[in-house]
Amino acid sequence: MCGIIGIVAKIGNVAPDLVKGLKYLEYRGYDSAGVATVEDGVIHVKKDKGMVDDIEKRMGLSSLPGSIGVAHTRWATHGAPDQVNAHPHTDCENKIAVVHNGIINNFNDIKQRLIKAGHIFKSLTDTEVVPHLIEENMKSGLDFKSAVFEAVKELDGSFALGIVSVYEPDTLICVKKESPLILGVGKDAMYCASDVSSLVPFTKKVVVLDDGELAVLTPTSYEIYRLPDFSRKDKTPIKIDLKVEDAFKSGYPHYMLKEIYEQPTALSYTIRLQEHYLNLMADLLDRSKEIYIVAAGTSYHAGLIGSYLLSKMARLVAIPVIASEFITSYGDTVSVESTILAISQSGETYDVLKAIEYAKSRAATILGITNVLASTLTRVSRVYIHQQSGPEIGVAATKTFTGQLAVLYQLALIAGKRRGKLSQRELDDLKEAIHDIPRVVEETLKKTDPLMKKLAEKYCKSKFFMFLGRGLSYPVALEGRLKLLEISYIPALAYPAGESKHGPISLIEEGVPVIFIAPRDETRKYVLSNIEEMKARGATIITLGEEGDKELMELSDDFIGLPPVNPYLAPIPYVVPLQLFAYHTAVLLGRDPDRPRNLAKSVTVL
Ligand code: G6P
Repeated sequence: MCGIIGIVAKIGNVAPDLVKGLKYLEYRGYDSAGVATVEDGVIHVKKDKGMVDDIEKRMGLSSLPGSIGVAHTRWATHGAPDQVNAHPHTDCENKIAVVHNGIINNFNDIKQRLIKAGHIFKSLTDTEVVPHLIEENMKSGLDFKSAVFEAVKELDGSFALGIVSVYEPDTLICVKKESPLILGVGKDAMYCASDVSSLVPFTKKVVVLDDGELAVLTPTSYEIYRLPDFSRKDKTPIKIDLKVEDAFKSGYPHYMLKEIYEQPTALSYTIRLQEHYLNLMADLLDRSKEIYIVAAGTSYHAGLIGSYLLSKMARLVAIPVIASEFITSYGDTVSVESTILAISQSGETYDVLKAIEYAKSRAATILGITNVLASTLTRVSRVYIHQQSGPEIGVAATKTFTGQLAVLYQLALIAGKRRGKLSQRELDDLKEAIHDIPRVVEETLKKTDPLMKKLAEKYCKSKFFMFLGRGLSYPVALEGRLKLLEISYIPALAYPAGESKHGPISLIEEGVPVIFIAPRDETRKYVLSNIEEMKARGATIITLGEEGDKELMELSDDFIGLPPVNPYLAPIPYVVPLQLFAYHTAVLLGRDPDRPRNLAKSVTVL
């Protein structure tokens, strides 16, 4: 998991634009960054440990000369995140430079063979075999392009590569196998990058590469070849509709806060989905013998809620499964009659894609919900829904989570309607409630943000938190806990409130903060008893409930009142104060909420 970008232009220096593009890609990893350009028969490389802005200040990445280059921002897989292992990597003679996202499985075999042939390796990365392999192929008389083709044939794994050399200083070669790669078609310049948003500042015309495709770019042309025989393939660019300002902070101190505040607007886009695709999906779900909802991280929490909604609103059983567990746990039961509903905001999470690949090999139907157009998930799904939440840069998912939920509500509603499981009255009420959700979230933000900041100040020194909820509020508790621990690094536990007496209650002693998610729904009366149980053992009770809920207020040390909402939709507004609590706590503790340690936005490795 890393971000790569390459540019070949007719005139001018490309390094400033490479650095600009890299900043959009930092959500993919920020252990190190680097740029390589070609000019006057020399490869110029600058790279170091750390984030793009710091390296830029220290070394001046954008001062490199040349109208062709590649750049990289890294999330380490092979080799420590230091300067030597930072990309780009070069061959023995410094004539070829390579950036890479993904993993080369057979790198060690190739490396040993090349070492025997006299190559000297500088880093511990799998990537470095690529420039050396190309170099070796050129020694045997191949030209640059053919040497790259032959090298790529040998590589086993998942990779997106950007390659430049002094041999053909107006040719940038890029390859895609499993890791994402998009081409950008500019005026007198061609681009390749790991995602669309990093291309937006330069061009809106893109070509989406499929797995096993290689592209040869010059300032004015692109040629696409298919592996393994390198047959030519014609592809026409498509126009993308993204604005540059969408990907900036708009005055907020962090992307995470900006994205939390974007939720009312983002939701208003998501609730305008085209019924056609929802109908298609609902139809395929209806026809399946079994349905699995497959996802990772926050998307899995959305999947848990989706499973509940499909059961309640459409009487459909959909088993939620963590993507990395899917093949082992359910692989043997997958058949042509199964449907996999994959949820992935990036559309690139490795575990999700592996589960899909497996399910496809057993002829299952794949449905996708994603926030990234042209992502792999959109291409492997029979039907996909683009949730339209806008780019999310903060590593901790916020607006994409509520966006996923908004898609799942609409899907469950349509499935319930088609299957005749909802009365007209229920349908009308739910439709109205969905349409009102941006307003409810807006009001929730206004009412709860100052309070969540105060509560963060009060509790940020706590050593441990517990989050409890029942029914739909259990996944909300899981998500609140994940947000808090991933960005503030405070240990926390989330449990179904009813299950808390089977173990977690032993962690309670005087003053341990326990956060209850208790909207006015069918579970509330039981939650009240669970609050009593925790209170009796000395816990400090923090509750999220409907404003004016006296019973809850009386039981709570701190009460957060939210506007009334249809109980099915409660997870959307109720997660918002928890996002804010995590955000303020992280900031008070001096953590960077946008870039939590060891995490990355898009996890494209096993
Ligand atoms: C990483 C991110 C999480 C995200 C998860 C799944 O762990 O840090 O925020 O929920 O991946 O990502 P996906 O793109 O598949 O939703």
